[in-house]
Amino acid sequence: MSLVPGKVVLDAANKGGYAIGAFNFNNMEILQAIIDAAEEEKSPVIIAASEGAIKYAGLEMLVGLAETAAEKVGVPVALHLDHGTHYDIILRCLRAGFTSVMIDASSRPFDENVKLTKQIVDIAHPMGVSVEAELGRLMGIEDNISVAERDAVLVDPDQAEKFVELTGVDSLAPAIGTSHGAFKFKGEAKLDFDRLKKVKEKTGIPLVLHGASGVPRHLLDTINRFGGDIKGAKGLPAETLQKAIAYGINKVNTDTDLRLAFTGAIREVLAEKKEVFDPRKILGPAREKMKEVIKERMRLFGSVNKA
Ligand code: G3H
Ligand code: 13P
Ligand code: ZN
Repeated sequence: MSLVPGKVVLDAANKGGYAIGAFNFNNMEILQAIIDAAEEEKSPVIIAASEGAIKYAGLEMLVGLAETAAEKVGVPVALHLDHGTHYDIILRCLRAGFTSVMIDASSRPFDENVKLTKQIVDIAHPMGVSVEAELGRLMGIEDNISVAERDAVLVDPDQAEKFVELTGVDSLAPAIGTSHGAFKFKGEAKLDFDRLKKVKEKTGIPLVLHGASGVPRHLLDTINRFGGDIKGAKGLPAETLQKAIAYGINKVNTDTDLRLAFTGAIREVLAEKKEVFDPRKILGPAREKMKEVIKERMRLFGSVNKA
């Protein structure tokens, strides 16, 4: 089917109390893994391209791949710009066919974030495109962090309420203690659930969890067993993620877990089959491994059989 607006799948998830996976892609194999997993699990899905992905693969190439992949399946697929930072790139994505965009002005002062986000909502909504914004800074919270430090970094629920009213944004990513990448927590994985609960009560809209990868042990082990060297990596445990979904998260962003699956599978082929030099024999197993990881995450999110 044709690409659907992000709002369609996120509003249904908000009503149903589950979450949709947003998986980052920047090449054909990653996209195929996401789409095939979604179809096999009968799960709606969001495919996300970052500014870095657009720079790497080209905007038209990514949109062409996304539209072709979505047409091939019967499950709803939204094409989302992840962490768009400027008006110009967002405008290019809107014109190219994205059905959801994120304006990430979270590093700017609150009023500037409101102004830019509202500007994007005003051009995106008439085109039927959904808008996500972010409040607070994405970073892990250590045990010894003071209340003042925590308040300075994480989302302020009152500000979140005001932000949603002023901008009309469709979904919001509140900083509650996650961070991007494979090294999320030094000690115990902790999220600020009270804050999340308040943001949900005050806004009622679909909430987004960035930096949500689980960084499973088995993916790290494969990488390290076949010549890699990734030490001390730690992701968000499954139970913590499911609690966040129960508290109102409806979109879960995952990139790192796919990168780990991809890298481990490629390292394994190259180490075990030294005679191989056909790209399909190298990338094929990586695509399979990513698909497995995506399916497992969809089950965790509760989005299976929701298409
Ligand atoms: O949130 C960031 C995503 O993992 C995308 O990363 O900017 O390296 O493409 P990237
Ligand atoms: P991870 O690095 O935890 O996969 O987070 C990805 C993300 O938030 C993309 O926006
Ligand atoms: Zn992110």
